[in-house]
Amino acid sequence: MDILRKIEMYREEEEKLRWEGTFAEYLQLLKEKPWVAQSAHSRVYNMIKDAGIVKEKGKKTYEFFNQQLFGLEEALDRLVEEYFHPAAKRLDVRKRILLLMGPVSGGKSTLVTMLKRGLEAYSHSDNGAVYAIKGCPMHEDPLHLIPHYLRKDFYEEYGIRIEGNLSPLNMMRLEQEYGGRIEDVQVERIFFSEDRRIGIGTFSPSDPKSQDIADLTGSLDFSTIAEYGSESDPRAYRFDGELNKANRGMMEFQEMLKCDEKFLWHLLSLTQEGNFKAGRFALISADELIVAHTNETEYRSFISNKKNEALHSRIIVMPIPYNLKVSQEERIYEKMIRESDVSDVHIAPHTLKVAAMFTILTRLKEPKKGDIDLVKKMRLYDGENVEGYNQADVDELKKEYQDEGMSGIDPRYVINRISSTIIRKEVASINALDVLRSLKDGLDQHPSITAELREKYMNYISLARKEYDTIAKKEVQKAFVYSYEESAKTLMDNYLDNVEAYCNKAKLRDPLTGEEISPDEKLMRSIEEQIGISENAKKAFREEVLIRISAYARKGKRFDYNSHDRLREAIQKKLFADLKDVVKITTSSKTPDEQQLKKINDVVARLIDEHGYNSTSANELLRYVGSLLNR
Ligand SMILES: Nc1ncnc2c1ncn2[C@@H]1O[C@H](COP(=O)(O)OP(=O)(O)O)[C@@H](O)[C@H]1O
Ligand SMILES: [Mg+2]
Repeated sequence: MDILRKIEMYREEEEKLRWEGTFAEYLQLLKEKPWVAQSAHSRVYNMIKDAGIVKEKGKKTYEFFNQQLFGLEEALDRLVEEYFHPAAKRLDVRKRILLLMGPVSGGKSTLVTMLKRGLEAYSHSDNGAVYAIKGCPMHEDPLHLIPHYLRKDFYEEYGIRIEGNLSPLNMMRLEQEYGGRIEDVQVERIFFSEDRRIGIGTFSPSDPKSQDIADLTGSLDFSTIAEYGSESDPRAYRFDGELNKANRGMMEFQEMLKCDEKFLWHLLSLTQEGNFKAGRFALISADELIVAHTNETEYRSFISNKKNEALHSRIIVMPIPYNLKVSQEERIYEKMIRESDVSDVHIAPHTLKVAAMFTILTRLKEPKKGDIDLVKKMRLYDGENVEGYNQADVDELKKEYQDEGMSGIDPRYVINRISSTIIRKEVASINALDVLRSLKDGLDQHPSITAELREKYMNYISLARKEYDTIAKKEVQKAFVYSYEESAKTLMDNYLDNVEAYCNKAKLRDPLTGEEISPDEKLMRSIEEQIGISENAKKAFREEVLIRISAYARKGKRFDYNSHDRLREAIQKKLFADLKDVVKITTSSKTPDEQQLKKINDVVARLIDEHGYNSTSANELLRYVGSLLNR
């Protein structure tokens, strides 16, 4: 469908949703849909809730954030459960400014933007509909029209609590345009839009000396004072500050802590009393979520300043740390690359994963428990099975540090290094080694990396490189076998036949000659040795395997290659050990013979077809693994 048609449809859709009526009609509507009168905070919470909450293994994930934010489940859960949820229930936190605190490029702006775009879309839905006094620059809540002395009665009839006072402007309009007849006041449905300055605002401080508070709270329109005769006539005032415009929705306060104090004092009253002072008027009620973001250093210096004391209690700080999972970090890079101009470049498999390993290592803190090293911790955090550890160990590791994830390498740095690799290499393909090299070279130029830190990071690069070596070898060896799974299965069946005969003190039958033969001790040992089973322990191991098989049989389950972790590992290792020499000779021969050449071509083809390489990256991989095996 062409884009103009889509635009037209969108307009038609909005046209259909439009609603206009008198206050009396609005009250009628409230009887059917009382939720449209909800507070701004409640609307934000319901928007998140309506998108869906998935509960799995005691952990919650919010669909609302899922498409854009990765690996922040815990921080987001805390944000929702400690701020949005209680705020929606009108608890005190609602009156505080939400301050997201986290390291640079950790997703804070992304989060705020999601909330804004989310609210825009939500206001088009039935659940997120918003209504306002027509013609009001602040889209004032129509219920403010109900006088205070009737609000208790209103609550009894409608079950809706009203907060806030009718603004001076609408007070005047009520008298002059409607002759005081509240029921006639026109009400309309509004649709949030940052572009049109409806319900979504952004305040970003410029030069504190030149910046005017008007940007926040609106200003007197001097050209109209003569017309209205007085500065205190609300019609002579332009309610067009960000706080005005964001009423009913949310305002992002950029660089809040860098801001001049006078701006912050306005927020103090707004957050405490739900109103702010503008011009010469009585206080103006506002209902909006205010979100700011900052980094840790800035925040510490802010709270250490005595002058800011009164503001402390008006702010709720929510940490937004870096993601600490390798697989999620990979997704972040994939997303950032998709959104960039280099998205058509071939990135060899495992490249982003290896870069992510380096990044996560820089963010993790050294485990206090002696027997876990940093790489193991990285694996555990990513949900991998590490022999000898379980989920309880992961939870314990997480408890060791409160502030993990607040420092380390940011995703932008990695993406910049990847881009610069692509540009410098001038080919349409990059691999893990290219990226590790580039990450390393970039450390010198990174502004916030000290010499000491640099050394540490160099070490993490070697660790990531070691991980890559293992991955690369495995990948090539797998590609060397025609069907890896098949070979593994054959080898295992063979092993099990022998084990069975051994344990039952029986003979095997040679499949070719039909002769009776003794169990192949050499074969069994060559597999068992791969996982360090000693001569003394072999009998117990074999019996244990047989017991497992019969347990499976009893439950009617098939015992297969994946049914026994250690046996699988042994089989894998044995296959690789057998292959090693073949791979070594084939990949490093300077003048491969015809047969070797054919093998190499087969392997390259398999890497391309089945493993996501292109011919450049597949050949690079083979060459690299050849050199590794010859070391
Ligand atoms: N946990 C994350 N999940 C998804 N993307 C992330 C995450 N952390 C950072 N990013 C990406 O990194 C970039 C910088 O994030 P940004 O939101 O601007 O960070 P901040 O405002 O905290 O400095 C963005 O492209 C963002 O999408
Ligand atoms: Mg930002």
